[in-house]
Amino acid sequence: MFETLEAAKPDKILALIGMLREDARENKVDLGVGVYKDDTGQTPVMRALRQAEERLLMEQNSKSYLGLAGDTGFNHAMTTLAFGEGFDVSRIRTVQAPGGSGALRILAELLKRAKPDATIWISDPTWPNHVPMMQAARLTIKTYPYFDAETGTVSFEAMVAALETAAPGDIVLLHGCCHNPTGANLNGAQWERIAQLLATRNLFPFIDIAYQGFGDGLEEDAAGLRTVAAHVPEMVVAASCSKNFAVYRDRVGAAMLMARNEKEATIAAGQLMGVARGSYSMPPDHGAAAVRIVLEDAALTADWKSELESMRTRMLDLRVGLADALRLKSNSDHFDFVARHRGMFSRLGLTPEQVARLRTEHAIYMVDDSRINVAGLPGDRLDEVAAAIVSVL
Ligand code: LMR
Repeated sequence: MFETLEAAKPDKILALIGMLREDARENKVDLGVGVYKDDTGQTPVMRALRQAEERLLMEQNSKSYLGLAGDTGFNHAMTTLAFGEGFDVSRIRTVQAPGGSGALRILAELLKRAKPDATIWISDPTWPNHVPMMQAARLTIKTYPYFDAETGTVSFEAMVAALETAAPGDIVLLHGCCHNPTGANLNGAQWERIAQLLATRNLFPFIDIAYQGFGDGLEEDAAGLRTVAAHVPEMVVAASCSKNFAVYRDRVGAAMLMARNEKEATIAAGQLMGVARGSYSMPPDHGAAAVRIVLEDAALTADWKSELESMRTRMLDLRVGLADALRLKSNSDHFDFVARHRGMFSRLGLTPEQVARLRTEHAIYMVDDSRINVAGLPGDRLDEVAAAIVSVL
């Protein structure tokens, strides 16, 4: 059987985990996979989450199945987190999914069921795993330009021009905030223009929001999604709790759909659960139950928000620190965009060769497209990291 298979191409982000593990150098710097780290280099369990888990352990009296939609309290809380308090949710249905990735995958499959000849437009560049996921759902992929590497900003006019060529009914995948891998994001006016373009050209928004709370704040990071929701009749959203609740390995996400009316929403949700049933059946409970406990308890929510906010501001401080150090070492303001970017990542604009030199000569690891995970920067060695970056230019 297996003799027919060729070796799989390793995922370029996950491959870094193995390379790092094998590197014995003590000074190694991990700017690779998108996992938050504190200033001791640890990825902590968040305080509120730990309390929720303790409560879960004491209070959970059954591990019987919950059903295809998972934890309905979690789904309700996640819908509010994304769409905001007071949003009319009657046309929205949410299904718990195994991580943001699981949500992306089942939503892509749902769209394929709804429109077998569907085309999806993804940003160039995008999170590398978007491509195999959309391919696995057999959607036709087209790309829109997104990033001006020279200035580190969004190529907004080029993005709009490309999307204006999309056919009615095409799907447009947008990063809700904290664009991965670039760190360059749409501002409020640009979201407004994209929302109008989607509405007038009858394009279908697919929003991937995996870093809510890591950019400008929990509410601010959802503003683009909410602008789109206010303009279009229907859309889907894949949300992740991996980063903002730090429950990476527990696989906690939500697949949301907004339909034109309640009847269509209910039918679409049934199909979405059918997709889930045909793949993994039901989502894992533990992490979502803990997130639900946090979000249904005012005190735990307040503590979670405060810890999330300190993670966000720590990343902002690191951005400013690295941009300052790069300005000094390179004697130019070329890298100032690092301080203007938001979220976990910035793309520095180095060549794969320069990235490889940083790895071999300086034990600094980043994705080969020169994406850095800002949270991995050692705050007390920013000068050293900046000097190494400048040395390979
Ligand atoms: C990343 O982009 O590094 C994270 O989302 C982890 C992953 O699964 O790729």
